[in-house]
Amino acid sequence: MKIPELLRKKPEFSLPRLLKVGDASDCSSLHATGFAHPWSASEFEALLADPSCLSVGVALKSELAGYLMSRVASDEAEVLTIVVAPTLRTFGCAQRLLLDHLSRLAARGVTVVFLEVDAENEAAMALYRRNGFVEVGRRKAYYARAEGARGDALVMRRNLG
Ligand SMILES: CC(C)(COP(=O)(O)OP(=O)(O)OC[C@H]1O[C@@H](n2cnc3c(N)ncnc32)[C@H](O)[C@@H]1OP(=O)(O)O)[C@@H](O)C(=O)NCCC(=O)NCCS
Repeated sequence: MKIPELLRKKPEFSLPRLLKVGDASDCSSLHATGFAHPWSASEFEALLADPSCLSVGVALKSELAGYLMSRVASDEAEVLTIVVAPTLRTFGCAQRLLLDHLSRLAARGVTVVFLEVDAENEAAMALYRRNGFVEVGRRKAYYARAEGARGDALVMRRNLG
């Protein structure tokens, strides 16, 4: 680790809280920092209003720092998206969100969680593997990349309980 990284002070994130429809615009802005094809505020409004979706965020000084959203169907859940503000990454925010989320899902009776991740997204794959997700499938050439190239998606799974 480089010295400037060692000197970065760990932010004091809030406890995770359930997000509301009023958070849609902040969710959309944060999403645009992490993904090439960001979701609009109205798409987030629909997700946040959907009772089958679980949306949990963490704040830093009352600003949304990161969030995780999943959709529950019976005893299964699918992670829809997770993102942390670029300057607040590698400080444990995603880890906090994921642990909180898994316990909320288990409390709702979910027994298995699936997600899809870009096979080249090393940070996300490390996060998921560290938390017990295992690869159960690969969607070849699933993501569009620059200049017509395509990238694979991995399907990962974790059992709860
Ligand atoms: C993936 C992402 C959510 C991780 O958020 P984060 O708050 O930085 O992650 P954390 O600090 O909680 O890290 C938790 C674990 O994830 C892994 N990890 C996170 N960032 C990493 C990186 N840059 N390189 C390698 N591993 C990383 C590590 O295993 C880490 O545990 P450790 O610190 O004990 O080694 C963040 O990089 C992000 O928002 N990326 C853009 C959006 C995205 O790609 N979302 C995932 C789509 S599937």
